Amino acid sequence: METTRFLALTGVLIRLITLGCFIPLTGFGAVVATVHPLASQAAMNAMKQGGNAVDAAVAAGLTLGVVDGFNSGIGGGCFLLIRQPDGSVKAIDGREKAPALATASMYVRNGKADTSLSQKGALAIGVPGALMAYESANRLYGRLPFKDLILPAASIAAEGFTVDEAYYRRAASAVESLREFAGSAAVFLTDSGAFPAVGSRLVQSDLAASYRRIAGQGINWFYGSRFPTLVDQWMKDHGGVMRQYDLEAYQIENRKPVKSTYRGYDIVGFPPPSSGGVHVAQILNVLESFEIGKMDPSGAAWVQLVVESMKRAFADRAFWLGDPDFVDVPEGLIDRGYARSLASQIIPGRSSSVPSHQTPPEANERLFEKHTTHFSTADEEGFWVACTATVNTTYGSKVVIPGTGIVMNNEMDDFSIQPGVPNAFGLLGSAANKVEAGKRPLSSMSPTIVSKDGVPLFSVGAAGGPTIISQVVLAIIRIIDFGDSIEQAIAAPRFHHQWRPDRILLERAFSDDVAQALAAMGYTINRVASIGVSQAVSLRLDDGRFVGAADPRANGSSLVD
Ligand code: GLY
Repeated sequence: METTRFLALTGVLIRLITLGCFIPLTGFGAVVATVHPLASQAAMNAMKQGGNAVDAAVAAGLTLGVVDGFNSGIGGGCFLLIRQPDGSVKAIDGREKAPALATASMYVRNGKADTSLSQKGALAIGVPGALMAYESANRLYGRLPFKDLILPAASIAAEGFTVDEAYYRRAASAVESLREFAGSAAVFLTDSGAFPAVGSRLVQSDLAASYRRIAGQGINWFYGSRFPTLVDQWMKDHGGVMRQYDLEAYQIENRKPVKSTYRGYDIVGFPPPSSGGVHVAQILNVLESFEIGKMDPSGAAWVQLVVESMKRAFADRAFWLGDPDFVDVPEGLIDRGYARSLASQIIPGRSSSVPSHQTPPEANERLFEKHTTHFSTADEEGFWVACTATVNTTYGSKVVIPGTGIVMNNEMDDFSIQPGVPNAFGLLGSAANKVEAGKRPLSSMSPTIVSKDGVPLFSVGAAGGPTIISQVVLAIIRIIDFGDSIEQAIAAPRFHHQWRPDRILLERAFSDDVAQALAAMGYTINRVASIGVSQAVSLRLDDGRFVGAADPRANGSSLVD
């Protein structure tokens, strides 16, 4: 670490002298923000052992699969956005895929889609991609051997960690479903079928053994040898359609990031099959027509403008967005002229009706190439990583393949399983996001990196289904328009509108005056205790130090070296 640090600092100083100014091109030291202190510590340990921000992110992801396994893990998927020291950004798509035997009607029974089938059990499970994405990121851009990142996580699984209130609450909400699957009950429940009490240690010996096998045999254990045969047998015994060959055929994709600007800042987001990068850019483009920075951050006027922009973006999401390997996603969705036309429909101070999606320019010509957790890392060499990972809802499909400790996702529910049938997040979709063999379900995950004049300033992302898009937009507005620090931006009250259902989710931290003002403008308001969980890291320009921010709504942690 010391030699690396010396070289990196020398590089920074040379660049400063060359530029004749004191604006650092990256920070000094290292930073990480995750939703769990053990994951943040694992990431920081990786950097102290000579790893970079990519190694740190991979260590965090693998550790979160142990200590936060109801949100993410190697049985799920992830999107990794990696900014390299030369400023180029890689987008690694480790999203789950529908098995080869999946069909558009697989959830329809007696003419009606049964969401219990897409949300729980064998048919809910997509072919997982997170492990291949982590391994690939580490091999291509990291410095440490993969085993040095996965073995410490295996030790935590083997030795156990203390169940806190937050973990207990989430686990308790899934107990009845976990009981239905022997492999899951064996890992997570006591002999009497309850989740272990707050303060007890959760030991995951099978997961530790799986991680150790991967450390020894490489990811081939997961994608090409023992694990696929176990999955195949379990699926056949439980009416599932995933087969050994689905895991053997799985490949991550390297995507072209979505690039846009907002008030002179460069925004880089994740492209389809995430809807996040597209709609964060689209909403911000629309908002550039309004001088939000001059409005009262605790008032209702700017909230209404953002809500109207969200409504239009989510209406477009429901119609246009899907896996770009299967459907054409128009680039015009982030066209500035299109954003101006959407902005011109917005009437300040009044709710306006958005009956359906609209059509961006060159919709058939310019096309995108084709419960969750977010973590961010950065280092002094200039690597910045923003990663959002998920098994979808709490403990995904609730299935653990017996003897492996691996929680399997229920990402198939992120497809539009039948026109007009909302998914677990109330989202509607169109044919663009129907189930097809080998297709990736549409996501809202929005890892985002923001730079100005070539200097990366902050990265942010969130957990919470479609509210992820709103959380990222709000953090960017808070920082750029209202001048908040990342800590203030992450802590600030949030709201969300996703077109259908036609209502604003408004955190109770907003005053009653704001709620009443919005209601008077014609909106239906649902007051909620909290919306989502965001993490962010930033570069402080005055002293070149990194800053990390974990959402106060969760028990996360940020560490700075
Ligand atoms: N599973 C939530 C998402 O990908 O948006």
